[in-house]
Amino acid sequence: MKRPVAELVGTGRYVPDMVYDNAYFEQLVDTSDEWIRERTGILERHIASDDETLAVMGTRAAEQVLDDVGITALDLDGIVLGTATPDRLLPSTACDLQAELGARNAAAFDIAAACSSFLYSLSVAEGMVISGDFQNVLVVGGDRLSRITDYTDRATCILFGDGIGATLVRPVASGDRGLLSSYLKTDGTLANLLYRPGGGGNHPPDEKMLEERGYYIKMAGREVFKSAVKSMAEACDRALERAGVSAEEVDLLIPHQANIRIIEATAKHAGIPMEKVYVNIDRYGNTSAASIPIALDECVRCGRIVPGSLVLMVAFGGGFTWASALVRW
Ligand code: COA
Repeated sequence: MKRPVAELVGTGRYVPDMVYDNAYFEQLVDTSDEWIRERTGILERHIASDDETLAVMGTRAAEQVLDDVGITALDLDGIVLGTATPDRLLPSTACDLQAELGARNAAAFDIAAACSSFLYSLSVAEGMVISGDFQNVLVVGGDRLSRITDYTDRATCILFGDGIGATLVRPVASGDRGLLSSYLKTDGTLANLLYRPGGGGNHPPDEKMLEERGYYIKMAGREVFKSAVKSMAEACDRALERAGVSAEEVDLLIPHQANIRIIEATAKHAGIPMEKVYVNIDRYGNTSAASIPIALDECVRCGRIVPGSLVLMVAFGGGFTWASALVRW
């Protein structure tokens, strides 16, 4: 008997209304609109209010998915939520989202792979539905990086924004659409190039940790940049190889939106022209786990993805982690 394939159906997103443009950062740190535009491609980013928790934002995105697919929250049997910024450390944010959404039949848990979390979550959801035990798994990728961003550090604060996106994964008998291949990779030896020293079990919050600003993200930008280019290129190659598909056949590349220069280098390596690459970093900055599902939702809603489109998604993040997925929509 042929193994079922995981298909993606329905999309949703939530992006907070509040916007920080580049001029805002000129007041905070020694930077300029020109530097930010040229070095990153970012013009503005959206920042969550106190009430816009990840669970609340995720619920709004999930409701759009359910609406698209024509099912109710009670039809969900799984919720996999990728994030590096859970609303609280215990329980997982997926549990809070499950309660907020009223999805009481769904097993819910978080996946932590930094900016690669959405693609890691997608791969886990694929396994769940292929096993035959799950029928409707909501996959969510979201982050509220503003909560752990040091707004005195010009090298990081200009980069990040908040948001969340979601899709639904379910089994489909036919093999001509759905998730054709995926690839996950990690190099934990590079963990301290992009990390958050405090707040966890090793360094619980205390006065010293707060004084040293250990609560916030630390990043060696140049090293992260180089690894991101190399890893995302490799991830594109592996996803295409595993599916036996050539770069020319790809209709749309959705790369993680970390820096326009990383996106351009990835596309160049993959041999995919920029007209086939989706870019929204100018409007959102780096939203970490949210960047791919937000882009996916925008592309579906504006018709850049239509049934039959071949979509390559690729991400890179702290860990280091990197991942790719090739989907026939
Ligand atoms: N405004 C003005 N100058 C800045 C600045 C800012 N916001 N941030 C850094 N600089 C300065 C640096 O201090 C440095 O000055 P110096 O030459 O006097 O030492 C200079 O700009 C160049 O710094 P560098 O770090 O080499 O810049 P860059 O071109 O690599 O750009 C990043 C910095 C952070 C934008 C870039 O490295 C990057 O995008 N890295 C990857 C980040 C990322 O993707 N993180 C998340 C992974 S998912």
